[in-house]
Amino acid sequence: RRRRSKREAEEEKRRKVAAVIGEVEQKFSTPTALLRGIADAMVEEMERGLRADPHAPLKMLISYVDNLPTGDEHGLFYALDLGGTNFRVIRVQLGGREKRVVTQQYEEVSIPPHLMVGTSMELFDFIAAELEKFVKTEGEDLHLPESRQRELGFTFSFPVHQTSISSGTLIKWTKGFSINGTVGEDVVAELSRAMERQGLDMKVTALVNDTVGTLAGGRYVDNDVAAAVILGTGTNAAYVEHANAIPKWSGPLPRSGNMVINMEWGNFKSEILPHSEYDSALDFECLNPGEQIYEKMISGLYLGEIVRRILLKLAHDTSLFGDVVPPKLEQLFILRTPDMSAMHHDTSHDLKHLGAKLKDILGVADTSLEARYITLHICDLVAERAARLAAAGIYGILKKLGRDKVPSDRSQKQRTVIALDGGLYEHYKKFSACLEATLADLLGEEAASSVVVKLANDGSGIGAALLAASHSQYVSGE
Ligand code: GLC
Repeated sequence: RRRRSKREAEEEKRRKVAAVIGEVEQKFSTPTALLRGIADAMVEEMERGLRADPHAPLKMLISYVDNLPTGDEHGLFYALDLGGTNFRVIRVQLGGREKRVVTQQYEEVSIPPHLMVGTSMELFDFIAAELEKFVKTEGEDLHLPESRQRELGFTFSFPVHQTSISSGTLIKWTKGFSINGTVGEDVVAELSRAMERQGLDMKVTALVNDTVGTLAGGRYVDNDVAAAVILGTGTNAAYVEHANAIPKWSGPLPRSGNMVINMEWGNFKSEILPHSEYDSALDFECLNPGEQIYEKMISGLYLGEIVRRILLKLAHDTSLFGDVVPPKLEQLFILRTPDMSAMHHDTSHDLKHLGAKLKDILGVADTSLEARYITLHICDLVAERAARLAAAGIYGILKKLGRDKVPSDRSQKQRTVIALDGGLYEHYKKFSACLEATLADLLGEEAASSVVVKLANDGSGIGAALLAASHSQYVSGE
């Protein structure tokens, strides 16, 4: 009798597990037809944002970058990259068309978490102090012409309402940053004041989003780069738009006829996005509820957290990890995306690495093989949905640019490169493979052969330095 009831209990458990998973599979599914609909919705929202429709979720921010690097940039420039869990200071010696990047040094510092939710002054003072330390390591061989002020490209990866190439006010914080008193302020002025307090004489000559920096850095090495996408802590895209296709642009028509637009696509939302109860709960419990809906389904800050929420549901409803729900599993953001990725890439037959991660992170010592396989499957569902949604976004940009099809005049060879950067894309191989396969599928064989997705590793730092150079206060090329 006891044995039968045990078997019954197991069957009951299996049924419950299957029910939860079946529901997740259904909610997270992204058939190609749905992705096409999402790409179309993205194009529509891009147009709304370019018209400055006040309700448009896509801000489609004007970057004031109307010329991308040419290769002629020359001189010693600094860049500062702030916007994820780390920030970076960079120094490059640009040698013009022939020599290109002569030397390049950088240093990466992780941002103490308390600074992400502290005060504006603390954050900027910390950055300026790190920058000052870095400037002190400048070698004599890199000497700057006498009486010349050092110049900096500032990559600030949050939505900014630019007022010129080198100024702009913060619209809102994203990605777990929440600092009082910065929204509405000019971030270049904030940084400049902090540099002054530090006794550092440096001028910000370009303020750029990381997507814009990546686009500039990508263009420097490949002329066919038309858009850049970041898939890291957050997600976003920038692309080159025809200035006359931007109704809200009231300035003079740039000579190039183009303007780089920072889409802030992380804030995309649409009725048709496959938004599940897990997404709603995550959104509700975040620092910025209702905002960045697309980003919360795709980017590195959130994927592990979505997996955690599904595992928690399974632990509660089906005792997946034993009779007691592992207390750590209740902890918000305890499962980071790099750990999820490590679990997802476990190829051992008994998933021992995945099991070890579950033990380290959630404190469950002996997970059953079944529980490990289920965890793997959940990672798959969450990563795949994210990668496919990101591919739909890229497909949307290609559609907006009219580069989703082979040109009717076939003698016209057309190549379109999308520069991609961010830890999620760079390190999460199953994610990047799925994104690339999905994009190829959406484009179809022929069009896919003229679209290249390229890792622009750390392009945003170099890109900011290049833009600092082309907007230098001194005569360029000097
Ligand atoms: C967030 C920011 C955006 C940035 C992106 C990638 O979406 O709002 O400005 O480009 O993260 O870092």
